[in-house]
Amino acid sequence: MQNFDYMTPTRLIFGKDVIVKLPEVMEKFGKKILLTYGGGSIKKIGLYDKVKELLSGFEIYELSGIQPNPKYDPSVMDGVRICKEEDINVILAVGGGSVLDCSKAIAAGACYDGDPWDLISYKVKAQAALPIVDIITLAATGSEYDCGGVISRTETNDKIGYMDPHLFPAVSFLDPTYTFTVSKKQTAAGCADAMNHIMEQYFCEDSSILNDGFMEAGFKSLMTNAKKCLENPEDYTARAEMMLTCTYGCNGIYALGNSQTGWPCHGMEHALSAYYDITHGEGLAIITPRWMKHILTEKTVGRFVKYGVNVFGIDASLDRFEIANRAIDATYKFFESIGIPMHLREVGIDESRIGEMAHHVAVNEGLEHAWAPLLEEDIAKIFTDSL
Ligand code: NZQ
Ligand code: ZN
Repeated sequence: MQNFDYMTPTRLIFGKDVIVKLPEVMEKFGKKILLTYGGGSIKKIGLYDKVKELLSGFEIYELSGIQPNPKYDPSVMDGVRICKEEDINVILAVGGGSVLDCSKAIAAGACYDGDPWDLISYKVKAQAALPIVDIITLAATGSEYDCGGVISRTETNDKIGYMDPHLFPAVSFLDPTYTFTVSKKQTAAGCADAMNHIMEQYFCEDSSILNDGFMEAGFKSLMTNAKKCLENPEDYTARAEMMLTCTYGCNGIYALGNSQTGWPCHGMEHALSAYYDITHGEGLAIITPRWMKHILTEKTVGRFVKYGVNVFGIDASLDRFEIANRAIDATYKFFESIGIPMHLREVGIDESRIGEMAHHVAVNEGLEHAWAPLLEEDIAKIFTDSL
C-alpha cells in the first residue's frame, strides 16, 4: 500500500427534503449568491422555485444555460464576470455535473486577476476560490464530492479535467427525488460514467481486500440499481443508492493507497466529447470494452479474472483468459442492456478524425504512463475498434 495524504472537506447532506437546510447553510457564506443552472430542467421539476422561495432573504444573481460538456466561453467567462462585477460571496450550483463543473471554474476564476484559462490549463495554480454549494440533480459524475471540473473550449477542441483542492464543494445537497425525472438516456449514461470511474481505479497494479471489495460492491450497486431506475424512475431506494455510489466516484476514496492508473478511458473520452460534443457516459461505455480487450495481456489478466469472478460470478476454475474475455463481454452486454448505443457511429462519430483525436490524446493525456501504457497508435486502434 502506498503512502497517502487524503482529505475530502465537503459536507454531504443527503435525503428527501434536505433542501430545507439551504438557508441556514447559505447564511454562513454571505448574502450575495450566484445561482448557476443549465437548460431548464430545474424549472421543470420545481426546484428553481423552491430555491428562490427558500432564499428569499438573499441577493441572488443568475447564470443559466450552462450546457452539457460546459463551455469556457460563454459560461465560465460570463460567470466570472458576474462574480467580479457583483462581488459575489458564494456560488450555488443547481443541476448535473456540467453545472457544477462550470461553477468550480467560475469559483476559481473569480479569485484570479488574469484569464481563467490559465488556471484550467494548469499554467497558474489557483490561490483561492469562492465557496461552492451545490444541489445535484443527476447521479453520475461525483463532482459533488471531488475537487475536479471538466471544461471544454470549442475552438481548440480541448476538454480539460481541472483539479484543485480549492474546488471541493463546501456543501453538497443530495436529494434522490430530484433525480426521478432524469431521462433513460442520462440515467444509463450516468451509470456508465460511474462504472468507469470505478474501473479507472480498479484496473491497476494493486490489490487489497478492502479496496477491491469496496469497488466490486460499487460495480454491483450501479448495475443493479441502474436497471431498477430504468424500470421505475421513481424507485426512491434505487435512485438513492445510485446517487451515493456515484458520489464516491472521483474523490479517491475507492482506491486509497493504490498506485495511479492514469485514467485512460477518461483521457480518450474527453477527446470524443471535445471534438463531437457527445454525452460523456456514452462515450465511455463505447470505449471501455474495446480498451479492455486492447490491454488484456499476461500483465493485466489477473485483474480481469478478479473482476469477472467477483462482479459477474464467472466460474473461477476456467482458464484465466477465458474468464477475462467473458468479463469483457459481460461489461459490453450490460451497457447494451441499459440502452446505450455501443458504436461510435451511432453517436455521430466516423473514422475521419480518429488520427487527429488520437494525436491530441497522446500529446495531452500522458497515457504512455498509464498502468497499461497507451501510445498514439494504441489510442487510434481503440477508437477504430469502437466504430
Ligand atoms: O441542462 P439541464 O436542463 O439542467 O438538463 C440536463 C442536461 O441536459 C439534464 N438533467 C440534469 N438533471 C436533470 C436533468 N434532466 C431531468 N431531470 C433532472 N433532474 O441532463 C443533461 C445532462 O446533464 P449534465 O450535467 O451534462 O450530466 P452529467 O452530470 O453526467 O455531467 C457530465 C459532465 O461532467 C463531466 C463530464 O465530462 C461532462 O462534461 N465530468 C465531471 C467529473 C467531475 N467533476 O468529477 C468527472 C466525470 O468523469 C466527468 O468527466
Ligand atoms: Zn467520468
